[in-house]
Amino acid sequence: MEMDIARILIHCDDIEARVKNMAAEIGNRYTGDETGLTLVPILSGSIIFLADLIRQLPLKMKIALVQVSTYPGSATLPQTPKTVLELSGEVSGRNVLIVDDILDSGRTLRRVQGMLRERGAKSIRTAVLLRKPAKAPPDVVVDFVGFDIDDLFVVGYGLDYDDHYRNYPHVAVLHADVMP
Ligand code: IMP
Ligand code: MG
Repeated sequence: MEMDIARILIHCDDIEARVKNMAAEIGNRYTGDETGLTLVPILSGSIIFLADLIRQLPLKMKIALVQVSTYPGSATLPQTPKTVLELSGEVSGRNVLIVDDILDSGRTLRRVQGMLRERGAKSIRTAVLLRKPAKAPPDVVVDFVGFDIDDLFVVGYGLDYDDHYRNYPHVAVLHADVMP
C-alpha cells in the first residue's frame, strides 16, 4: 500500500486535532437541542471519520446508515449517484446530522439532503471532513468542514480508490501510475 502513495496531504495528527475541534463545534451547536438527534453517515467513505468524531461527541444520538455510490469501481470522475442501501432508521421529526468524508461535486450530498427532507427531518445539518471549494456547488450547504483541499483525487482515512486505501491513516495522493 505504502508504495502506491505519492505524498501525504494531511497527516493523521492534524486530522486528529481538527476532528476534536469539529466535535466541539458540533457539540456547541446542538447544546440545548440534543433531543432526537440522529447521525446519518454516508457509507463507506465516512466510516473512519464517523468513528473518531462520535467518540468525541458527548451527545445522545442514534445512527441511521445510508449508502450512496458516486465513484463505482475505479472511476475517478463522479457518476450519477445511486442509493445502494436505503436509510436504516427513522428520521421523521428528528434533528439530523449527515456525516460524509468529502464534498466534491455535491451530487451525493444533494441527494441525501433531499431524501432526508422528504422523510420529514426536523432539521438537517451536514459535517464533512474535506471539501474541494473549486468544485462544491453553492446550493449544497455544509455546516461543518474539516479541511478545504485542492481539486485532487485523495485516498486514506476512509476515502478509497477502487475500494482500496480506506485504512491508510493519512489523507494522501496516489502515484499517477496507480490511477490510470
Ligand atoms: P460528490 O457527490 O461528487 O460530492 O462526491 C462525494 C463522494 O464521492 C464522497 O462521499 C466520496 O465517497 C467520493 N469522492 C469524492 N471525491 C473523492 C476523492 O478525492 N477521493 C475519494 N473519494 C472521493
Ligand atoms: Mg462516499
